[in-house]
Amino acid sequence: MTTAPKKLYIKTYGCQMNVYDSERMAEALGSQGYVSTDTAEDADMVLLNTCHIREKAAEKLYSDLGRLKPLKAARPNLKIGVAGCVAQAEGEEIVRRMPLVDLVVGPQNYHRLPEMEAAAHGGARVVDTDFPVEDKFDHLAARPKARRGPTAFLTVQEGCDKFCAFCVVPYTRGAEVSRPADRLLAEAQGLVEAGVREITLLGQNVNAWHGEIAGPLTGLAGLIGQLAQIDGLDRIRYTTSHPNDMDDALIEAHGSQAKLMPYLHLPVQSGSDRILKAMNRKHTAEAYLRLIERIRAARPDILLTSDFIVGFPGETDADFAETLALVAAVGYGAAYSFKYSARPGTPAAERAEVPVDVMDDRLQQLQALLTRQQKAAQEAMVGRTTTVLFEKPGRLDRQWGGKSEHLHAVHVPSANDLRGQILPVRITEAGPNSLAGELCL
Ligand code: 5AD
Ligand code: SF4
Repeated sequence: MTTAPKKLYIKTYGCQMNVYDSERMAEALGSQGYVSTDTAEDADMVLLNTCHIREKAAEKLYSDLGRLKPLKAARPNLKIGVAGCVAQAEGEEIVRRMPLVDLVVGPQNYHRLPEMEAAAHGGARVVDTDFPVEDKFDHLAARPKARRGPTAFLTVQEGCDKFCAFCVVPYTRGAEVSRPADRLLAEAQGLVEAGVREITLLGQNVNAWHGEIAGPLTGLAGLIGQLAQIDGLDRIRYTTSHPNDMDDALIEAHGSQAKLMPYLHLPVQSGSDRILKAMNRKHTAEAYLRLIERIRAARPDILLTSDFIVGFPGETDADFAETLALVAAVGYGAAYSFKYSARPGTPAAERAEVPVDVMDDRLQQLQALLTRQQKAAQEAMVGRTTTVLFEKPGRLDRQWGGKSEHLHAVHVPSANDLRGQILPVRITEAGPNSLAGELCL
């Protein structure tokens, strides 16, 4: 007799690392007979993969859990789990406040999920937020056999030792750990065999990757060089980088590695040296600008993106004006900007906050400038030819969509199935969220 598969619904909040982790958790729970579903309503297990990086993460979690109460009341066998960085930060508190939660698992313990799931039944509740000595990836490598779409993430590094004064990552994700190169190369090979043509290397501090590697180059540049030798892998990206870890070899790779895409997310957070110092970023605005110059010398058409925080404690109008000046000097293709939000346990949380209306005003000014730059970068593509990796049908009939080398969303008219193909496209129009083009056949 075969039993019907159990259904798993995972809600993912936050960063690409969480998206990657959710995929691995779904695969790990596959061993317990779970298949994925798109709604909580028909699930046998609901897993909330949380993010703690900014505001109200915990409140959002508690309200989402509140909304699951009727489901749990109707179906007491429904298992509810909390994963991710809020799980790591709040641990026992979640179990104490929310009787409907069956298990809480921190990001370093996802490989233990199958046994936790088995243990969490009949009212037994399980919490695991240790930082274990074993490598969770020994048990969680991306499953190569399953047929995949043409793009994939590959976590190469996790955690952070930088301790920026505003950031919870060093506490929730722990110390910086690099995965070994041989594992990563094998995993990438498996992904390519399953149909992947573009891999984005992930890490909270990805360019600090320092796994052992054969060959003349060390560090992330060495890893990229070896990945580039995999036949069938056509595009490589990496995110997120810290300016201080952009070494010469990595900058040079942007000029010499044809498979490395001309796109770099390099957060600067602020343009004021005073604020950068208070943030413990350990670089100046000038050093960042010099770095950008060197990266552009290696790859002139590179598209740069960044993260910014406005209203960090102590930020004056003059400091903020320096942020605007830095943005104007760099010219970003896109960027994320956030109002500062005090994270419990971080050094900056102890400091006096900038009034919220001042933060709102600064955020609006900064976003207006960044939006103009983003639009200019999109419009600059019109008339140019770029390759696009096609991923899925577009919103309209007979339309296909994918990503350009610069990570712009591009759609073209086509009646053919273009999934997984990399084709030259002439860009004809820049819309607010995507570029329109036509295949150069
Ligand atoms: N407040 C606001 N933004 C933050 N970020 C990280 N921590 C905070 C915080 N406490 C932003 C940074 C980082 C991005 C992932 O989130 O800009 O680069
Ligand atoms: Fe957080 Fe990034 Fe700073 Fe690390 S480098 S502490 S992840 S902002």
